[in-house]
Amino acid sequence: MSLSIVILAAGKGTRMKSNLPKVLHKISGKAMLFHIIEESLKLTNEITIVLSHKFDLVKEQIEANYPNLKIVKQDLQNYPGTGGALKGLEFKSNKVLILNGDMPLVTANSLEKLTQSSADIAMTILELNNPTGYGRVVIKDGFAKEIVEEKDATTAQKAIKSVNAGVYCFNSDILNKFIPKLDNNNAQKEYYLTDTIKMAVDEGLKIEPIVVDEDEFMGVNSKVHLSIADEFMQNRIKQKHMENGVIMRNPKSIYIDCQANFIGECELENGVCIEGDCTIENSKIRAYSVIEDSQIKNCSIGPMAHIRPKSKLIDTHIGNFVEVKKSTLNGVKAGHLSYMGDSEIDEGTNIGAGVITCNYDGKNKYQTKIGKNVFVGSDSQLVAPVTLEDNTMVAAGSTVTDSVPSGALVISRVKQKIVNGFFNKFFKK
Ligand code: UD1
Ligand code: MG
Repeated sequence: MSLSIVILAAGKGTRMKSNLPKVLHKISGKAMLFHIIEESLKLTNEITIVLSHKFDLVKEQIEANYPNLKIVKQDLQNYPGTGGALKGLEFKSNKVLILNGDMPLVTANSLEKLTQSSADIAMTILELNNPTGYGRVVIKDGFAKEIVEEKDATTAQKAIKSVNAGVYCFNSDILNKFIPKLDNNNAQKEYYLTDTIKMAVDEGLKIEPIVVDEDEFMGVNSKVHLSIADEFMQNRIKQKHMENGVIMRNPKSIYIDCQANFIGECELENGVCIEGDCTIENSKIRAYSVIEDSQIKNCSIGPMAHIRPKSKLIDTHIGNFVEVKKSTLNGVKAGHLSYMGDSEIDEGTNIGAGVITCNYDGKNKYQTKIGKNVFVGSDSQLVAPVTLEDNTMVAAGSTVTDSVPSGALVISRVKQKIVNGFFNKFFKK
């Protein structure tokens, strides 16, 4: 059986109240549309995405991430609606799966079940206590007979609680035959894909209604929906990592993007946030630390540390209120209140409290290189570009502007002066 997939993503997404096209809003660190593209790619490479609203922007984003998908533009002006989205397309595969770009929770597993139906059309049904807004599905003798959109429904039809989730698997000749015949003779003056159901029934074809769960097939139309879908996704992500051996303290308070990887034995305390493409191996991340697009191996981080993108930390201890950005730290201790940006720091080195790499002069960024066994005293500023060679010491409170040769101590602070009796003289006691 050959399969192609069409993802409908041309709608305006008005209820999202955002300038960003709805399908580009993120769930657990990835655009909703990309979640569904990735699940689709597990089933076939024959994927067409229908766009229209902010066409260029969405197309550019898709092509940057998935170069081999077919992208078409719907003529929303003349052919609005889910049926209009398919006008002009021709399907050569045996089956066509129709998906929505705003359904980020759907899994390939569930989609595969739809494709295995022996009926001419398999469609998804949600059983809802509150069916408002959805198309109602008339089911008789176990088969779907008709889908009635809410705006076209009679009072009796509105009471139906079996609703159309909006995902279908068609034998492609059915689409090729019926899409050109759709009209817009309805309350919304749209071309409804759902009208193909009645047309198929009239020709004696069978439509299998497959009941699906909201935690996979919910559509995201507003920012409230976005937060609900994200919570479903978070639970899924965290459960997977915990099953693979990650310890989480109060998992509800932890946020982990879908790209994160954990290896070996890791522990996350409450309030930890892991964003973007992170790999964390045999490490403990303490409460309220944020880690972004970084690699961490055999480390202890936090509490309240911020590891920013492109950092690579190995055998390192990072304490509270420490920020690291685009730096490689190997065998380092930075226990308190410091900033390491655009730096490379080697084994056995201790970064004292309040040490700052001054990596930015207001125009450009510069590198700080710190070798092995360096002791950087508290409250020092390392003005980049600067190198501290192996086995060097920086006296507390120094401003280091020139590189320090191996074995040396650098001290750059005003010599301490004692003025005896000054206090009493000054306050005339
Ligand atoms: C559609 C179904 C409805 C179902 C609901 C489930 C029709 C006529 N109705 O409702 O029975 O209960 O989905 O969510 O199909 N889209 C386009 N082009 C358009 C219009 C929509 O590509 O012209 C895309 C949207 O971007 C979205 C998807 O189709 O991804 C569904 O659109 P939406 O407007 O949410 O669905 P409804 O038409 O309200
Ligand atoms: Mg609509």
